Amino acid sequence: MIISSPSDYRAAAQKRLPPFLFHYIDGGAYAEKTLRRNVDDLADVALRQRVLKDMSQLDTSIELFGEKLSIPVALSPVGLTGMYAQRGEVQAAHAADKKGIPFCMSTVSVCPIEEVAPKLGRPMWFQLYVLKDRGFMKNALERAQAAGCSALVFTVDMPVPGARYRDAHSGMSGPNAAMRRYWQAVTHPHWAWNVGVHGKPHDLGNISKYMGKAVGLEDYMGYLGANFDPSISWKDLEWIREFWKGPMLIKGILDPEDAKDAVRFGADGIIVSNHGGRQLDGVLSSARALPAIADAVKGQIKILADSGVRNGLDVVRMLALGADCTMIGRAFIYALAAAGQDGVSHVLDLFEKEMRVAMTLTSVNKVADITPDLLVQSA
Ligand SMILES: Cc1cc2nc3c(=O)[nH]c(=O)nc-3n(C[C@H](O)[C@H](O)[C@H](O)COP(=O)(O)O)c2cc1C
Repeated sequence: MIISSPSDYRAAAQKRLPPFLFHYIDGGAYAEKTLRRNVDDLADVALRQRVLKDMSQLDTSIELFGEKLSIPVALSPVGLTGMYAQRGEVQAAHAADKKGIPFCMSTVSVCPIEEVAPKLGRPMWFQLYVLKDRGFMKNALERAQAAGCSALVFTVDMPVPGARYRDAHSGMSGPNAAMRRYWQAVTHPHWAWNVGVHGKPHDLGNISKYMGKAVGLEDYMGYLGANFDPSISWKDLEWIREFWKGPMLIKGILDPEDAKDAVRFGADGIIVSNHGGRQLDGVLSSARALPAIADAVKGQIKILADSGVRNGLDVVRMLALGADCTMIGRAFIYALAAAGQDGVSHVLDLFEKEMRVAMTLTSVNKVADITPDLLVQSA
């Protein structure tokens, strides 16, 4: 299979993974309208081509919360990453580290914080969900701090899990799920050997460590439904602030009024995100939501954005729409599933190359100059 662009990794991942895992990554909520919009709306953003401006000195780096990033990209938190590749969180974090960008570990990762953070040359970020057990949250924050995590990403758009109907069809959930998953595993021997056999233990590492016993993946969505807390409000964030001293980002903002609340609360950053189209179907794509949010809070708080970013050109588009930095989910996960750490490194290098082309042909030689001035009406 020829891999020449980031999007080629999707097909490669589909070949390698048992269908229940591929569709868990690839799918979205309900009719997947927002999932498609995320990609389509971003691809529709037209940039102003400008030429003959001597672009020989081009710098793709940024500074964020006192850290240098070689490109304005961070890896979004993705649950169960250790099921897509052997100890997947470790591999993805190493690739991010090598590239000089942050890896953000999900609460519901397979590898626990302590397996990943000490091996890295730069601090990772940690993402927290609101679980009913506040003892777990406090424990996770203390462990993340002890492991040197430099930023906390607090995800607020999942007080309840969205309905992902693909999962029932693929065997992630639904009738006879365990039997169907077993059959899919044995018919995908590369995955079965590398991840199924040699990628153990397969549990939610951060939660197991707190509970003192393995919290398994058997009924993963059932676990999320039972343990996620729909009572979450700004009060909970104040409680978290007491335990977390570093930069705190609120992930899942899609409305300017919520962005203003985040500024009032004193957050250091927001992540404009619809969870990659996995929660409320029909909401705006991040690309469409971002300009109004940037109008409301740009300069008062760092604006990060994810959902739909598939290549380096999309990064430039998202920045032109108002983001200070982007994050990527599926784009790195497909590469991880297909080719492990090397796949993620490759995709990040492709992102940089594509960014350089986009910056050269829009005549911006530093990231701070990527502004709405680069946008042009396409129709
Ligand atoms: C398989 C999968 C699992 C995810 N798990 C989490 C998670 O544990 N925590 C979280 O905050 N977001 C999670 N997300 C959302 C991502 O952090 C990110 O917002 C989303 O993937 C961005 O969209 P993109 O995939 O189009 O880049 C997950 C996304 C995917 C695809």
